[in-house]
Amino acid sequence: MKSKEIKALVAQMTLEEKASLLSGADFWHTKPVERLGIPATMVSDGPHGLRKQDEKADHLGVNDSIKAVCFPAACATTASFDPELIRTMGEAIGDSCQHEKLSVVLGPAVNIKRSPLCGRNFEYCSEDPYLAGRMATAYIQGVQSRNVGVSIKHFALNNQEHRRMSSSSDCDERTMREIYFPAFEMAVKEAQPWTVMCSYNRINGVFASENRWLLTDVLRKEWGFKGYVMSDWGAVSDRVAGVHAGLDLEMPASGGLNDEKIVEAVKAGKLKEKDVDLCCERILNIVYRYVENAKPETPWDQEAQHELAAAIAAESMVLLKNKGNLLPLKKKDEIAFIGEFAEKPRFQGGGSSHINSFKTTSALEAARAAGLKVSYAPGYSVLADAATEEQIAEAVAAAKQAKVAVVFAGLPDSYESEGYDRKNMGMPACQNKLIEAVAAANPKTVVVLHNGAPVEMPWIDKVAAVLEAYLGGQAVGIATVKLLFGDVNPSGHLAETFPKRLQDNPSYLFFGGEGRRTEYREGVFVGYRYYDKKDMDVLFPFGHGLSYTTFAYSDLQLSRAEMNDTEELVVSAKVTNTGKRFGKAVAQLYVGDVESDALRPVRELKGFVKVGLEPGETKEVTFTLDKRSFAIWKEDIHDWYVETGDFTIQVGSSSRDLPLCACVRVNSTTELKRNYDMNSIFMDLMADAKAKAVFEPFLKALNEAFGGQPEEKTEAEKEAMSDDMGAAMMNYMPLRGLVSFGAKREVAAQIEAMLKMVND
Ligand code: BGC
Repeated sequence: MKSKEIKALVAQMTLEEKASLLSGADFWHTKPVERLGIPATMVSDGPHGLRKQDEKADHLGVNDSIKAVCFPAACATTASFDPELIRTMGEAIGDSCQHEKLSVVLGPAVNIKRSPLCGRNFEYCSEDPYLAGRMATAYIQGVQSRNVGVSIKHFALNNQEHRRMSSSSDCDERTMREIYFPAFEMAVKEAQPWTVMCSYNRINGVFASENRWLLTDVLRKEWGFKGYVMSDWGAVSDRVAGVHAGLDLEMPASGGLNDEKIVEAVKAGKLKEKDVDLCCERILNIVYRYVENAKPETPWDQEAQHELAAAIAAESMVLLKNKGNLLPLKKKDEIAFIGEFAEKPRFQGGGSSHINSFKTTSALEAARAAGLKVSYAPGYSVLADAATEEQIAEAVAAAKQAKVAVVFAGLPDSYESEGYDRKNMGMPACQNKLIEAVAAANPKTVVVLHNGAPVEMPWIDKVAAVLEAYLGGQAVGIATVKLLFGDVNPSGHLAETFPKRLQDNPSYLFFGGEGRRTEYREGVFVGYRYYDKKDMDVLFPFGHGLSYTTFAYSDLQLSRAEMNDTEELVVSAKVTNTGKRFGKAVAQLYVGDVESDALRPVRELKGFVKVGLEPGETKEVTFTLDKRSFAIWKEDIHDWYVETGDFTIQVGSSSRDLPLCACVRVNSTTELKRNYDMNSIFMDLMADAKAKAVFEPFLKALNEAFGGQPEEKTEAEKEAMSDDMGAAMMNYMPLRGLVSFGAKREVAAQIEAMLKMVND
């Protein structure tokens, strides 16, 4: 329906009908307006599959949803560093939505992993905003290519579960713009999601659901978002303020209470009816976009999607360690699978994203189906969160008999979930104990991890290999066996740092906050941005991921050595497979500002390319950088800004393995407004060409009037003030110092006149 027709439709609605359209009919439906033939549409949780519930819906997932395909969660898929693959997953989910008559799937969830403790990290993408943005954009493009929408969530700064419906995320704007917003911004600008879901929390004291700056000024006016904003489920506090702010749809509903409040507010002149109209138009626009393109005849081939889920999982798992190339395993060898997760894998997280999988394939099942010689000992009981002496003894015996022992370990469901945060980064003690015992019995021990966020690994030096399988979806077992036995070469890379211990994490002192407030005091130094700045040892760095082959990086080329910030820079490099088997490399590009007035990370990810290479093959990878690749958010001009100067361009296979480095000079084309005053210091004035031109001759003259610098200082003078100290005193001297330290009082007026000249 054209926007003119939608406006005409809204014009026919009574105020009560309009208000009613602005909240859900139930947990999952928008309201119909039967008198005007406006249909209801259904939304459903996801995002890594469908969680379509029936009439007995309850949103917390107690009631069953339809049988569906559970793809790997975002903790895993992001580690694939493969947007094309994630687009394919989006297309598959889009097809399922069409089949199931769903207008919108609730996801992707792109909140930044500020701390490893956040209970929902498993469904979030990364600690890095650029990576999260690229992957989310691809997912959205995939889903929406099928004419169904997404709801990118949770906008914004919903980085903890503790007090999630009321706590205030208190953060400076630069940090929001550089860290917490870009994934949403990129997705809006490049994929135009049909809907955005605002978060539960407050932002600097104002609920996201009534935050006009967030929902209207930033999201719509700056980024150009055209769809509708819905609330997270129950995120509305003051509905009238929400309409004014730009929150179109309240979900699920308030039994009509808030609809009445909207009507009353309009009648009392406290809310403009045109704001209500606008919300209706935005909702109807999407309702009709779906209805007019609905294709319920779209087939949903769940078996084919099971295979796709396996393929995606295989591309996403990260080989963290592989001492002596123990992996891949040899198919002829006797292998012991140990740990209950081998038989009952943990492949998804708990809460609203929980999917009722139509089937699951465990690693044990996949290995047996492939005819591999695999023995099995449970080792521990996940539900009991315990390992008995007998279970450990049985596991040790199995490990001793086998050529290689593979322990399947990780976090049980109860350790990480929507609704609450983890208390520590530890794995269950029984599993740590089991791993130690097995590794002592057989040094050829491999650990396969099923977890949604980093864990501490006290046993890391005792095991030969670690494969991070994350929460790999219902077909996780197929992928695990393919990787373990080398049918597929691992190519996932970490989308988050694994710190050595929780205390190392930059948000450690502030995460969770005090009472109703959580201050984001670490600022932009989130994840590797902090560990690199402090040059700290980590367990596994951001971007890390091994392969069964090896890659060499060479021939870094920049399209120019100097550029204006309005221009683009094309960077190319060569990647060669120097090993003996096909593999995929993830070439990562990081930008660093060599010298900056702002506090900046050492390097930030600004490009990546995944590339498949046959043994001996070399391919060129290219990256295009633009202003945003170099810019910071400058609060005083309220815009992106590049400081003129040199920037390093580093390329390699992880944030800590960057063999290629080159430099580019970027010139700013933004002239900053000068705001010098009597408190401006000499150092700043002399660093600014215009200020220098005005002040330097004056300062010289003044200096001479005072008799200039003595040619030779006496020993006593040197002792009292070294040259360094003298220079520092001058550098940091404010202009007013000229008056305080002895110039004639008329000098003050001269300085004021010069300040005016420079500032104008
Ligand atoms: C979650 C959302 C989810 C919604 C609907 C909320 O509790 O935060 O992510 O989409 O419920 O189930």
